[in-house]
Amino acid sequence: MLVLISLSCTFVEPAAEPPTLRERFGDHAFLTPIDAPPTVALVAGGELDTRASTCGGCHAEHYRDWSQSTHAAAVHDVQFLAELAKPDQPRWLCLNCHAPTAPQRAETITADTRLASADSILALQTTPNPTYDRLRTAEGVTCASCHVRRDTDGAGTVVGPRGSGRAPHRVRHDPTALDAVCVSCHSPGTDIVITPTFPCWFGTAEELAAGPAAGTTCVDCHMPSAERAIVVDGAVQPIRRHTWAGSGIAKTTAGLTTAAERGFVSGLDVALASTTVTLTNARAGHALPTGDPERFLLVEATLRDDAGTVLAADSLRIGQSWDWGDEATARPARRTDDNRLGPGEIRVWTPRLSGGGGKMAVRVTSVRLTADNAAEMGKVTLDAELHALWPELPSSLSAPMAGYPRSIVVFEGAIVRDPT
Ligand code: HEC
Ligand code: HEC
Ligand code: HEC
Ligand code: HEC
Ligand code: HEC
Repeated sequence: MLVLISLSCTFVEPAAEPPTLRERFGDHAFLTPIDAPPTVALVAGGELDTRASTCGGCHAEHYRDWSQSTHAAAVHDVQFLAELAKPDQPRWLCLNCHAPTAPQRAETITADTRLASADSILALQTTPNPTYDRLRTAEGVTCASCHVRRDTDGAGTVVGPRGSGRAPHRVRHDPTALDAVCVSCHSPGTDIVITPTFPCWFGTAEELAAGPAAGTTCVDCHMPSAERAIVVDGAVQPIRRHTWAGSGIAKTTAGLTTAAERGFVSGLDVALASTTVTLTNARAGHALPTGDPERFLLVEATLRDDAGTVLAADSLRIGQSWDWGDEATARPARRTDDNRLGPGEIRVWTPRLSGGGGKMAVRVTSVRLTADNAAEMGKVTLDAELHALWPELPSSLSAPMAGYPRSIVVFEGAIVRDPT
């Protein structure tokens, strides 16, 4: 009896432990950094570190391409840091795709890592990562994100498309894995709810699979072939470009003038007739635009008389619209509209320009970030944790945001319009 009483007096309900990542969200690759070791094994013994600059010491053309890509800017991106600075962002999760390999991360994160609290996903209970290398974090989606994985003995190996026997480092021939790597970040699934107001997974692969280009891969279009030396002083041979030009809108001011050099090809065809503008998604295998739900195409038509005076103007926005929900009232985010051009879709737009004649000028701009949103981001001041990701950047984002590329003009043309 006594024992029982003493037990009931001393028993304290253990505080419920917050769930692990796996317990809370299930198994998804993007919940943890990629388990890429910090070195790859050399065939003749020894090892090579996997910093992009080390790979670039031999693969100079690939390194030069990659350096100009948005992948290389995935952490050194003013917009990314501005969004990370919002108070409700689970930074650990964002970094799983933007600085995706384990050595890029100060903390060790596995599927068994616990959330710091049961009712918030903002922070994790972590331990310091012994392989952390601060300089690699800056490399964003670095070479190792796609190319370095563990071999059966745990050592690092390079996943390659051909299985070359001439490489000094280990190579694992696996073109299928390389093709599939894009989807792990660009289409991680559309039915995952991280929080009710954080739903917006990209569906590029699903759009591709449902359209006429199904069966082609992201690599087919986004890594076109070119004749280059695969290694410094090596023979010229067919390789794949590593610029991933995408929308052509760069992440740096320098990138404003390099879209053609990076291989940017617009997905859109535009044909003008007297009263209509025909817009065709001719080359993107997926919706136009795809990816970030805030991207849109702005089609502007302006009618002028012979003296150049504007008689009428009209515009069309092609993109998604979202209600981002409300954390406080648990109103989930939802897409309220989506008038993007499906792959292959032809749309005829008749701008309302009155019935008069004149010269109709049409311009199409691909917009990644509006001036209003950029102005808001310019008001952000980075805290110490974020500033440490890019110490050379001023912590106030007003100056960097002012010169930040936000859009690109993809079509300009004009036609004489008869009075109707
Ligand atoms: C976003 C993923 C990704 C990143 C990042 C990446 N690569 Fe690749 N790389 C690929 C893919 C995919 C292929 C194979 C394309 C094919 O032929 O199917 C490839 C092919 C290669 C090849 C073989 C030759 C060729 O061009 O086909 C070399 C060498 C190479 N990459 C080096 C690098 C280096 C060096 C870096 C970093 C500076 C890098 N890659 C970054 C995805 C990537
Ligand atoms: C010391 C020079 C050197 C370094 C450093 C180096 N590579 Fe290589 N790599 C080579 C050579 C040589 C080849 C074979 C080229 C050929 O087939 O002609 C090769 C081949 C490759 C291939 C193609 C494999 C295939 O399937 O045929 C990839 C991908 C690759 N390297 C990626 C990397 C990455 C990523 C790094 C950094 C972790 C790296 N390399 C570092 C020299 C180097
Ligand atoms: C580890 C995650 C990851 C992988 C793997 C990955 N990407 Fe990306 N990709 C990103 C991120 C993050 C960005 C945007 C970075 C930013 O804007 O800050 C991006 C940007 C791009 C863009 C540029 C979009 C634009 O117009 O600005 C293209 C195109 C692209 N990726 C294609 C690919 C292809 C093709 C592959 C496979 C070979 C691939 N990606 C693999 C994460 C990834
Ligand atoms: C049939 C060719 C083709 C295929 C296949 C393809 N893309 Fe694209 N993609 C394009 C073109 C062309 C653009 C440029 C669109 C534009 O005008 O902005 C583009 C643009 C993008 C963009 C930038 C956003 C935008 O709409 O401009 C991203 C991100 C992207 N693609 C990712 C992917 C991924 C990931 C895959 C594979 C699941 C893929 N693409 C497959 C042709 C293709
Ligand atoms: C599953 C992988 C993944 C995760 C997790 C992720 N991103 Fe991204 N992010 C991407 C890819 C892929 C792109 C490229 C899409 C595009 O360019 O349209 C991207 C692009 C971006 C861009 C550039 C948008 C543009 O239009 O160029 C910003 C900013 C960004 N992400 C912020 C974040 C933030 C903040 C988080 C965390 C809340 C986050 N990302 C989490 C994969 C991811």
